[in-house]
Amino acid sequence: MLLDAARAAAGHAYAPYSNFPVGAAVLTSTGEIFTGCNVENAAYGSTLCAERGAVMAMVAAGFREIDTVAVVGPAGPCWPCGSCRQVLAEFGCRRVLVEGEEVEFVELLPRSFGF
Ligand code: THU
Repeated sequence: MLLDAARAAAGHAYAPYSNFPVGAAVLTSTGEIFTGCNVENAAYGSTLCAERGAVMAMVAAGFREIDTVAVVGPAGPCWPCGSCRQVLAEFGCRRVLVEGEEVEFVELLPRSFGF
């Protein structure tokens, strides 16, 4: 399942500064799965979140429509941060899975900005 893919990706997280490994998996509307993990940097602001890593991999592979995103952190439900929500919205994300919960994406980012 999608959460398992996110969990596996969290195992590759590079998070020596926060010690907060995160994994994400996006399921496209046509059934492909792409994963990402957070990759931190000594210049903290250069860190990339797991969700955005997964979305970048998806777009680079030629896909642009997200059905579901799953996110796994080190303990309990790990909800996407605000920046990741905006990026997920760009590609039409409909559903969000975290440990023990499943919600409609619109609940996380109602009235979102977009052209
Ligand atoms: N992080 C993510 O990967 N995704 C989120 O949605 C929230 C935060 C990462 C960034 C940083 O490496 C660590 O978690 C602590 O903020």
